[in-house]
Amino acid sequence: MSVTAVARAALCAALLTTAALAGVLTSGSVPKAPYLELNDGHRLPQLGLGTWLGNSSQGRIKPQGHEVQQAAEWAIAAGYRHIDTARVYGTEPQVGAAIREAVRRGDVKREDLFVTTKLWNDRHAREAVVPALRESLAALGLDYVDLYLVHWPIGQFANGSYDPTDHLSTWRGMEEARRLGLARSIGLSNFNQSQIEGILAGCEVKPAVLQVEMNLNLQQESLRAYCSSRGIVLTAYTPFGSLLKGGAGAGAGATRVDDPTLVEMAGRYNKTVPQIVLRYLMELGVAAIPKTITKQRVEQNIDIFDFHLTAADRAALRGFDAGLRTIAGGRWADSPQYPFERSEE
Ligand SMILES: NC(=O)c1ccc[n+]([C@@H]2O[C@H](COP(=O)([O-])OP(=O)(O)OC[C@H]3O[C@@H](n4cnc5c(N)ncnc54)[C@H](OP(=O)(O)O)[C@@H]3O)[C@@H](O)[C@H]2O)c1
Ligand SMILES: *[C@@H]1O[C@H](CO)[C@@H](O)[C@H](O)[C@H]1NC(C)=O
Ligand SMILES: *[C@@H]1O[C@H](CO)[C@@H](O)[C@H](O)[C@H]1NC(C)=O
Ligand SMILES: *[C@@H]1O[C@H](CO)[C@@H](O)[C@H](O)[C@H]1NC(C)=O
Ligand SMILES: *[C@@H]1O[C@H](CO)[C@@H](O)[C@H](O)[C@H]1NC(C)=O
Repeated sequence: MSVTAVARAALCAALLTTAALAGVLTSGSVPKAPYLELNDGHRLPQLGLGTWLGNSSQGRIKPQGHEVQQAAEWAIAAGYRHIDTARVYGTEPQVGAAIREAVRRGDVKREDLFVTTKLWNDRHAREAVVPALRESLAALGLDYVDLYLVHWPIGQFANGSYDPTDHLSTWRGMEEARRLGLARSIGLSNFNQSQIEGILAGCEVKPAVLQVEMNLNLQQESLRAYCSSRGIVLTAYTPFGSLLKGGAGAGAGATRVDDPTLVEMAGRYNKTVPQIVLRYLMELGVAAIPKTITKQRVEQNIDIFDFHLTAADRAALRGFDAGLRTIAGGRWADSPQYPFERSEE
């Protein structure tokens, strides 16, 4: 090796070290999940962080301290670019604080993130939609969200009686929110196929996303096929279903995390059972928004893009579909807009 070559090699090594160091220092800015293309030209990071804290016997659980902000900051550092919240979760302020902190630290820019929030049932009147979104934006401290969803197809007045506002009127309000630039994309949650059909028949802007429960026990085969035929991306909420203790709903008879087939499968990939089920959802082409406020789980849940399931394992996972719903919204079963089979109650 000539002197110049040695010098060049040394310079090269120094540059590599600098690059490696920079890689470590800015590792929080590397997005980990692939993107799904939406029908309006935007793109949705396939894995996101859920922020609903669930229910206790006293009702909706409120955040303790800064636990949601902390989880969202860990998530962004771990490579998440998609965060799911809703007006009704009470977590918008903490999600917003986490975003401001991550932007301040230089981990990400606002436009690198995909933030979803949702319109609650008491704001279905067309003229109530934009003001409701403005309240969410104020809570988040943002000028726009990436996705605004109609949370449920069930309208309800503040006094609890049902608001019969038709879905298309609500949707006109959603379209206006998009026109004003307050939401880049708009979509639906918990709507069934015929309800979506009703929106498609009269809308100016098609829903970009449908967010519904989807997990091993509820694989949504027909709704998935329908959405894909209409160019609507499906996002799986409650992606663990009743797999985990502490997960939403008891789900009697549902597959549990200690199922021997799942444990054996996870072992073969050197992954955990939650990682296997998230990977399965990714391979079905849907987005998923697992919730956790535990740092190691935040990191674990996005560490699923370095392996592929075999066709045999995908087939075995498909076999766990039991049509078992965890989130049935049963308290609204008497609404004429209730979207699910009433026999499930
Ligand atoms: N559109 C809608 O109507 C709707 C309805 C329900 C949910 N969602 C959205 O979907 C998100 C996810 O659904 P979800 O919160 O119902 O349930 P989920 O994400 O399926 O499960 C959350 C539970 O799993 C635990 N967990 C997470 N990762 C884990 C891991 N790797 N190992 C072991 N346990 C793990 C969490 O515990 P810890 O937090 O204690 O770690 C928490 O108890 C919600 O947060 C919300 O954003 C939307
Ligand atoms: C959550 O709590 C509310 C208020 O107590 C209750 O009406 C609702 O049925 C609960 N939802 C679920 C999914 O358990
Ligand atoms: C509930 O509120 C709606 C809208 O304000 C009103 O029309 C309705 O009469 C109220 N129902 C009851 C039972 O108070
Ligand atoms: C298995 O996974 C763990 C956790 O990700 C990792 O630390 C370990 O090196 C892996 N083992 C093998 C044999 O790949
Ligand atoms: C969809 O929701 C409507 C209420 O708007 C209901 O009448 C219909 O039965 C639902 N469809 C299914 C398949 O549950």
